[in-house]
Amino acid sequence: MHPDKITDNVYRVAAKIGTRDLFEGIWPIPNGVMLNSYIIKGEKKNVLIDLVKDWDGAETAIEDELKELDLEIKDIDIIVINHMEPDHTGSLNTFKDKNPNIEFVCSAKAKPLIEAFYDVHDKITVVKDGDTIDLGGKTLEFYMTPNIHWPETMMTYLVEDGILFSCDAFGAFGRYDSAFDDQLSEAESKMLDTELERYYANIVSSFSTFTLRGIEKVTHLPIKFVCPSHGIMWREDPCKVINWYKKLATYMNGPQEKEITIVWSSMYGNTQAILDSFIKGVESEGVKLHVMQVPQTHESFVLEKVWRSAGIIVGMPTYEYKMFPPMFTVLDQLERSHVNKRKIARFGSYGWSGGANKQFMPFVESMKMDFMGEVEYQGAPSQEDKDKAFALAVEMAKAIKEA
Ligand code: FEO
Repeated sequence: MHPDKITDNVYRVAAKIGTRDLFEGIWPIPNGVMLNSYIIKGEKKNVLIDLVKDWDGAETAIEDELKELDLEIKDIDIIVINHMEPDHTGSLNTFKDKNPNIEFVCSAKAKPLIEAFYDVHDKITVVKDGDTIDLGGKTLEFYMTPNIHWPETMMTYLVEDGILFSCDAFGAFGRYDSAFDDQLSEAESKMLDTELERYYANIVSSFSTFTLRGIEKVTHLPIKFVCPSHGIMWREDPCKVINWYKKLATYMNGPQEKEITIVWSSMYGNTQAILDSFIKGVESEGVKLHVMQVPQTHESFVLEKVWRSAGIIVGMPTYEYKMFPPMFTVLDQLERSHVNKRKIARFGSYGWSGGANKQFMPFVESMKMDFMGEVEYQGAPSQEDKDKAFALAVEMAKAIKEA
């Protein structure tokens, strides 16, 4: 890649990650992910905003792009650490080894993490809300935005240029040839639609309350550019991504979209045998439906659809007196991600004994769901079971439409 000019003396230096590795060791990234760093050439000081980790050649890519700007690591005076997670700090010791004079700027909560992760104890400057650093002709201003997505997170604002360096906030999965929102091809735009929401649901959703607080804190600024550390940069319509994130954060406790997601699994086809009745029930009311089978579909993708849906229908058989294990994993993830306050229903077959419901209901309560009912049967579903399923799906769809 080459550096992308944002304004005079401000550039993105980025790496496109295209490996089959899982992001955070959990989340599939079939479309890859961007690791974005930013360089500001001030009259007095050069600053790098956030680093990368040595992943799929990212470290070399950043160094090569700096060279295109006639900069070497020894020319960097300050590295701003907006967020300590290793995707943005993994190269910290590489930079420090090549330039022992480099100064790290971070929040108070990031300092002990830098010490613990990288055994670096000196040349760390802690900043707090509203602190500024004069680079000569350009001024950095810092805003503490904890828990987007770790407790030490902050954002950095470049005053003269109106650029918000937001790190994880306003980020997305996916590799993009286009640098800015106004350059996206139709295919990239389509990818961004799902990959931004999947990134939010996977990485940020648990911290939605903090996301709303963080947005509140920075939206008074005259923001001309939003520059996150994943995904694309926003200059034509920076408000679009800010409002998009606001909407996604609001989904935590609602209102969500008038959509229903059916998440289902089946062992021998007896649970699957009633699936069609639920599908037809939802479709008869014209409510948008997503249908996802687990474990065939990774919970990353389930979470993306469930996060935006006002209704969830969970189908799984009883397995050894408990829930079908892959569905337990999915529900555990939904609970961790704070998928709260939706309408929910359940269906499933059992062999010699039920039991799934006993394990299912604590999830319903923990996530403050509105439980609308269940269809459970021994062996294969009867016509009466199928009619009940259709009626339950219609009831949920109507309730969501009328909400
Ligand atoms: Fe992109 Fe929370 O790190």
